[in-house]
Amino acid sequence: MFCFSRIRSGLLAFIDIFVPFSRCFEQSKKTHLFFDTKRGVLSYQRFLQIFLMMEAETSWVSHCFDNIENDSVEFDPFLELKDESSKEIAAAVSVDLILPDDLLERILTCLPVASIFRAGCVCKRWHEIVSSKRFLRNFSCLPSQKPWYFMFTSSDEPVGYAYDPILRKWHGIDLPCIERSNWFIASSCGLVCFMDSDSRSRLYVCNPIAKCFKGLDEPPGPKFSDYSALAISVNRVSRSYNASIIKSKQVPGDFFQWDLSIHVYNSETMSWVTTLTEVLTGWRAGDESVICDGVLYFLIYSTGGGGSENRHGLIAYNLTSQLSHSLLMRSFIPVPCSLTCGRLMNLKEKLLMVGGIGKQDRPDIIKGIRIWSLNGKEWQEIARMPHCFFQGFGEIDEVFASSGTDDLIYIQSYGGPTLLVFDVNLREWKWSQKCPVSKRFPLHLFTGFCFEPRLEIAP
Ligand SMILES: *[C@@H]1O[C@H](CO)[C@@H](O)[C@H](O)[C@H]1NC(C)=O
Ligand SMILES: *[C@@H]1O[C@H](CO)[C@@H](O)[C@H](O)[C@H]1NC(C)=O
Ligand SMILES: *[C@@H]1O[C@H](CO)[C@@H](O)[C@H](O)[C@H]1NC(C)=O
Ligand SMILES: *[C@@H]1O[C@H](CO)[C@@H](O)[C@H](O)[C@H]1NC(C)=O
Repeated sequence: MFCFSRIRSGLLAFIDIFVPFSRCFEQSKKTHLFFDTKRGVLSYQRFLQIFLMMEAETSWVSHCFDNIENDSVEFDPFLELKDESSKEIAAAVSVDLILPDDLLERILTCLPVASIFRAGCVCKRWHEIVSSKRFLRNFSCLPSQKPWYFMFTSSDEPVGYAYDPILRKWHGIDLPCIERSNWFIASSCGLVCFMDSDSRSRLYVCNPIAKCFKGLDEPPGPKFSDYSALAISVNRVSRSYNASIIKSKQVPGDFFQWDLSIHVYNSETMSWVTTLTEVLTGWRAGDESVICDGVLYFLIYSTGGGGSENRHGLIAYNLTSQLSHSLLMRSFIPVPCSLTCGRLMNLKEKLLMVGGIGKQDRPDIIKGIRIWSLNGKEWQEIARMPHCFFQGFGEIDEVFASSGTDDLIYIQSYGGPTLLVFDVNLREWKWSQKCPVSKRFPLHLFTGFCFEPRLEIAP
């Protein structure tokens, strides 16, 4: 009998080491090899040995061998693999040869999504397995993958790395569609919605892992709004989705009156509907919104003069009943305490808010971070960030980035690439592995968003 966990770790080690090799052979004859330094360096001899043990009928194998011949002169003398890893690889390779397809498929189903993606590069047989409809369907039936956090490492370009909390690794991935890191971003169940920050008329829904995307029609409503909030909600069963935009525009010549409109896109009808327009007095919406269980929640901000003690409030707007003449302020929910900023997120269809707590005498200076969940109209505090973690950010401004899904919450200061992860189930705070990019100049800003890595969902 196989020991399942040994096979699994063997396969992981195998994929980790093998795939960088195959990539570089495919791309260029002259590239230097990239190694997984954690696992040690694979010797050329050993690599060939493994290679020869693989099925030789795949087309790219012979292509790779062409390249090896000439590149080999450039290879440095490699260190031998650590004993443990080479044993694992040997196990993995021999296992691959004797495993029937259905068993291999079962084992592959248990790998984290990043490894599935890379496993497809190992050989034709594996590629066929992991890209088959049956595999993807089975894979999607598993409990949801832990969400990743994509961190932008440039303020201008939409480039960065995605943090994978299972492998505790940063993956370099290219995002489709998005042109700048300051675009509006929302995500749900593997789909990510982008909206450009200038015209706010270009919208895309994409799967950043599978790299498929779709453009949406221009949303209705005022062309130039002062504030916009974007949200998306995917139905896990039907795979249909709704995207929503809340637009706020100041009534000309009036500081206290704001035109607010809600626009909803339905993927089944492929069209936008303006579900509500209303004038708010003393409050405006901003850019913070999320959909949980068919209800669109968004933060509103006091514009002064209303006599409200808090600068923030929450509105719950039921997308299913879509009452076009409901008075929004009837569904006003006060925030639990004075906040420097609030971030809303959907964790298993429940609304959670991460908020910055201001100092008593200086409410705009942040002194801590707390997390609440909303039960009906009541907030329930679920965690306070321990002071050592709060200090671990170095400097944190009164506004910060935070997003989450499933049962993970990510928190990040705009001033640096430090990323903190809170597991709501385990009630555990943990720093991520160090991001591959560090702060290079004083105004180097970082931001990011959370999404589920899913292979099978497409817009
Ligand atoms: C190998 O590389 C050398 C130069 O590095 C080149 O002159 C030679 O043609 C190459 N041979 C093959 C088979 O590509
Ligand atoms: C995948 O689903 C099919 C039925 O659709 C089932 O027969 C098969 O055993 C499943 N495979 C795995 C690896 O779960
Ligand atoms: C989208 O909204 C409609 C109501 O407008 C609702 O019936 C449907 O279930 C929603 N779909 C999702 C995926 O939330
Ligand atoms: C939203 O409205 C629908 C229809 O009126 C209702 O069935 C549902 O319970 C409401 N959802 C919430 C969370 O109040």
